[in-house]
Amino acid sequence: MDARKIIEKYNATDVVITDDFVEWIRSDHAGETGAVWIYKGASLAFWSQKIRSMAFEHGETEKQHLVVMDYLLPISKRSKLIFLWKIMGFGLGFISSLFGFKAFCHTINIVETFVERHYGEQIRHLEKNVKCGSLLIVLRKCCEEEVAHKEEAAERLPNSRVPRLLFFWGLVVESFSNIAVLIAKKI
Ligand SMILES: [Fe+2]
Ligand SMILES: [Fe+2]
Repeated sequence: MDARKIIEKYNATDVVITDDFVEWIRSDHAGETGAVWIYKGASLAFWSQKIRSMAFEHGETEKQHLVVMDYLLPISKRSKLIFLWKIMGFGLGFISSLFGFKAFCHTINIVETFVERHYGEQIRHLEKNVKCGSLLIVLRKCCEEEVAHKEEAAERLPNSRVPRLLFFWGLVVESFSNIAVLIAKKI
């Protein structure tokens, strides 16, 4: 699908980002860049067909999200640390897939839960302030798709308790995501 069609599909054509929202969209743009690279990293998992097919499927959606964010945010306003978000995303996707499908799904579940919360904050803010209705529609659609990613990963996990090591890994991923958002809002 070409960029114009994607932008239309997400109803982003007429969205204008006001100054007070630039920081937030910058963090979204950085996050979607990271997401594309998570799935690029995971798509190298030649040892697991299951990881590769989830990485491919989710990665296609993340690429579309990134097209939308590219459209919304001029280059001059994007994070200066894009290379870092790419490396971190790639590392996260690749390293978690080294530990197998379960570890990968757990990681995706944590990451997408984080992203859902991140978009959720922005959506609630826009709803409360009854403004930027067109941006609200775009963010809602992206968020819905992140939730679908989260649920798909969660469904593949066994119901048993998360092993302690994976639990701590999840905390590390979450902390890094929090820090990354704080930085991407500023730089
Ligand atoms: Fe995304
Ligand atoms: Fe996602």
